[in-house]
Amino acid sequence: MEVVNVMEYQAIAKKKLPKMVYDYYASGAEDEWSLRENRHAFSRILFRPRILIDVSNIEMTTTLLGFKISMPIMIAPTAMQKMAHPDGEYATARAASAAGTIMTLSSWATSSVEEVASTGPGIRFFQLYVYKDRKVVAQLVRRAERAGFKAIALTVDTPRLGRREDDIRNRFTLPPYLSLKNFEGLDLGTIDQTADSGLASYVAGQIDRSLSWKDVKWLQTITDLPILVKGVLTAEDTRIAIQNGAAGIIVSNHGARQLDYVPATIIALEEVAKAAQGRVPVFLDGGVRRGTDVFKALALGASGIFIGRPVLFSLAAEGEAGVRKVLQMLRDEFELTMALNGCRSLKEITRNHIITEADQLRMGSRL
Ligand code: FNR
Repeated sequence: MEVVNVMEYQAIAKKKLPKMVYDYYASGAEDEWSLRENRHAFSRILFRPRILIDVSNIEMTTTLLGFKISMPIMIAPTAMQKMAHPDGEYATARAASAAGTIMTLSSWATSSVEEVASTGPGIRFFQLYVYKDRKVVAQLVRRAERAGFKAIALTVDTPRLGRREDDIRNRFTLPPYLSLKNFEGLDLGTIDQTADSGLASYVAGQIDRSLSWKDVKWLQTITDLPILVKGVLTAEDTRIAIQNGAAGIIVSNHGARQLDYVPATIIALEEVAKAAQGRVPVFLDGGVRRGTDVFKALALGASGIFIGRPVLFSLAAEGEAGVRKVLQMLRDEFELTMALNGCRSLKEITRNHIITEADQLRMGSRL
């Protein structure tokens, strides 16, 4: 059956993938409240479309951190993509580049920064997990720079791995024929099988729980690449991140895989965007599955969004063609949403084009 929207890839992936792999991709933390809420919160935001505006030409291109891309829809870092498809991160890189948009490569990719760079031209960011051994981090950042990556997305919501109960039940580990390619030569490329989640044990052993703002400063001493702080959910941390030299903020709850009962990212977005005051761009990820979601995020102050699971599920279903199709479907839906809201360019998308639940409550209390 033909796939007509992004969500439909999930069921196909579920049928195709080994249970351990599908569960790792699909899961959220603990009760998965934030996982459901990342989606539900979008559905509580409504449009206030403007009519009779000539929408025969819609412009979706944008320039982010100085890089021109075809649309404000980008690819979030997700680990271990070769579990989804043998082409893994290569397929994702090629699909992103064909769509004229940015791919973020995970530290825990099953392809190295050099291998991904060798797939051809493309604007790529590198997602960084900070290991206890800072020599490992410095070396990796240097390799990403040399391989032409354009920014570092520093993940700040993972001092420990969130409790993902499916992974515990399945005794999740990386299949033996794969490795965390960026760390292969450093003896950190494999995940041991443990009595619970192998990944949680790996993180406990290798990732630095003491990470703090001073490390954001330290990172700037070892690289000139712009640093995006990924995992901000409050106005307070937005201000501190900017004070500490962040070039951008990614409002993210890690696809609801870390702390459960944090708000949906689309709910947290507005306070972050307000606190940023336009000093640095603000991005969002979490639950984006429709062009309408992209529009809502931009109306609430995002400069662009990232998608995570849709890439994994489409990769599992159809490889590079699947990821291309996901990007194309989101692009088409977003263009249609702009047209039906009377917006011809991204700057015409305003806060007045949407009405949130908080707006409705405020209006109610004035009646
Ligand atoms: C992730 N995410 C993630 N984030 C990160 O900084 N480094 C990583 O290695 C990973 N790995 C990863 C694996 C899987 C299977 C998932 C689902 C997610 C989080 C990711 O970058 C992003 O924040 C979310 O995936 C966005 O939410 P959606 O689009 O999946 O709902």
